[in-house]
Order: sequence, then structure tokens, then C-alpha cells
Amino acid sequence: MRGSSLRRPVMIQRLRQIAVTIKIKHLLCCCIVLAFVLFATRASNLMGWTSDDDATALRYSTPRKRYAILMNTWKRHDLLKQSISHYTTCMGVESIHIVWSEPDPPPDSLVAFLQRTVKENSRNDREIKLRFEMNKEDSLNNRFKEIKNLNTDAIFSVDDDVIFACSTLEFAFTVWQSASETMVGFVPRMHWIDQAQEEMGKYIYGGWWSVWWTGTYSMVLSKAAFFHSKYLGIYTHHMPASIRNYVSKNRNCEDIAMSFVVANVSGAPPVWVKGRIYEIGSGGISSLGGHSERRSKCVNTFVEEYGGMMPLVRSTVKAVDSRHLWFW
Ligand SMILES: *[C@@H]1O[C@H](CO)[C@@H](O)[C@H](O)[C@H]1NC(C)=O
Repeated sequence: MRGSSLRRPVMIQRLRQIAVTIKIKHLLCCCIVLAFVLFATRASNLMGWTSDDDATALRYSTPRKRYAILMNTWKRHDLLKQSISHYTTCMGVESIHIVWSEPDPPPDSLVAFLQRTVKENSRNDREIKLRFEMNKEDSLNNRFKEIKNLNTDAIFSVDDDVIFACSTLEFAFTVWQSASETMVGFVPRMHWIDQAQEEMGKYIYGGWWSVWWTGTYSMVLSKAAFFHSKYLGIYTHHMPASIRNYVSKNRNCEDIAMSFVVANVSGAPPVWVKGRIYEIGSGGISSLGGHSERRSKCVNTFVEEYGGMMPLVRSTVKAVDSRHLWFW
């Protein structure tokens, strides 16, 4: 009895000592981590590694250094307002072209809203040009009609229901500037060789899952991609009319046709850029059944139109903003 009551305070003391040591070690660790974080955030400032606003302004100083937004829309004026309002805040945008294929012209209220938005977001006396590209007939080929008086080489083709942060867009634009002959985009797809015996020389359209699983792709979809404006002319005037007719009739695959055009001219694969996509509408064509078979049919039909030659080139490159990579 006596012995244990004597020993207890000793034990408690030892325990206290251990607790204090652990606390000190903990505190030290925290200090080191904090110091590291502080250093990491301040290092670039201390070393003079900052890119200032002047440099950013200079980057987009002439129209040729900026890009045009080519937006496809169809009877969703709220989405259109939302996405145009967003894109007018991006530094590199020179002009916005809305592909209009509805039977009625855009309502006055819509036009007024968009013009007001553009005015409000113009800076340094530079106003973004806003134009409706009017079409009489409703065809998916409208999306790639040649644009008159275009000031930029770069076009960002985008659907009205997807939004990218300006920083993401500007990163993709610099990728395109490094590879302006090809398509640079956010939605990769693949053509796989059909392994079935009776389907010799045929292809299967590979959706998101197959690209995710293999990291391999050969197209980026024009629902969100940069490409050179010259490809609009080639699509409209030099691509076989049979392909345009097929697209029109089947109301599908204008994006695959454009991928074929760019690949056939450039001989190069597209570039997939990492970026977050914010979808503001709900449900696209890809949620419909039988989508994959229809897309495979497009690929195989277009290959025939190209004389049996598959122009698409596969790639496994993914462009990532190195500022967002923690480890080199
Ligand atoms: C593909 O490119 C080749 C060589 O540049 C050209 O001769 C051919 O017409 C192009 N094919 C199509 C279908 O545009």
C-alpha cells in the first residue's frame, strides 16, 4: 500500500514530462511547417519571380494575340446570357460570335442585355466585339461557317452550356499558341480499332470511359476547343460535301468531322488540356441512348470519304498548368 502511494506521484511526474516533450515536439513541427508554407508563398516574391499586370496586359496587346469565342446556341437564352456574361470578363477575348440558327432573329431584350454586358466589362477602352452569325437553315454545319472580318487566328469553339474559368481558358490558349496547327481542348475522345473478325478495318468511337482508362485519345471535341480560324474555311469549302450532308442529315458528328479536317491538314494529334468544366445546362446529346453506335458510324463513314485513310492521330499528352502541380 505505502509503496504504491509513494510511486504514484513519481509516475504522474514522468507522464507530465513526456506530455511536455510531446507538446514541444508538436509545436516545433508546426513551426517548421508554417515556416515552410510562408517561405513557399513568399519565395517567388522575394526572388523577384512575379509576373505583373503590365506583363499580362502586354500578352493580349494586339488582336492577333487574343482569341475569338465561337458559341453555338439553340433556344436557351438564359444559358446564353449566363455564359456570355462570364466570357466577357476574360482578358484574352477579342470578339464573341454567337451562331444563331433559330427561325426567329434574336429578341431585342436579349440583344440589349448582351450589349450592356459587353459594355460593362470592357476595360482600357477596349470593347469586346459581339456578333450574331445569322443562318437561315438549321444545320450543325452552321457552327463552322467562315466568319467575315475576323481579327484573330485563334478560335475557342464552345457550347452555350459549358463554362470554364478565365484562368483555365487562358492556359489553354497558351497551349494552342505552342501548337496552333492542331486542336487544343478539354474533352478528349478516341477511335478504337474494332477487334471483331467480321468488322475488319472498322473503328469504334471511344467515349470518356475508354479515354480515362487508357489515357489515349485522338480527338478533342469542339464543344470546348481552340483551333485556327483557317479550319472554318476548309470545313465549309474543302471538306467533301458528302460529309457536310451527312452531318446535316443525321444532326450529329460535326465535331468528329472537324477533328478529321484538322488532323488531315496538320498530320498531328490534338492536345488535351486539363481543366475543370462547369456544366450549366442539364442533359446533353450524349445522355441519349445509342449515342456510341451513331458516333462509330460517323467515324467509319468519314474514313470512307477520306478514301479509306484514317487521318486521326492518337496521343497520350495531357497539358497541365505547372503552377498547380505541387511536385516537379
Ligand atoms: C487530306 O489531305 C490530303 C493531303 O493534304 C488532301 O490531298 C486530301 O484532299 C485531304 N482529304 C480530304 C477529304 O480533305
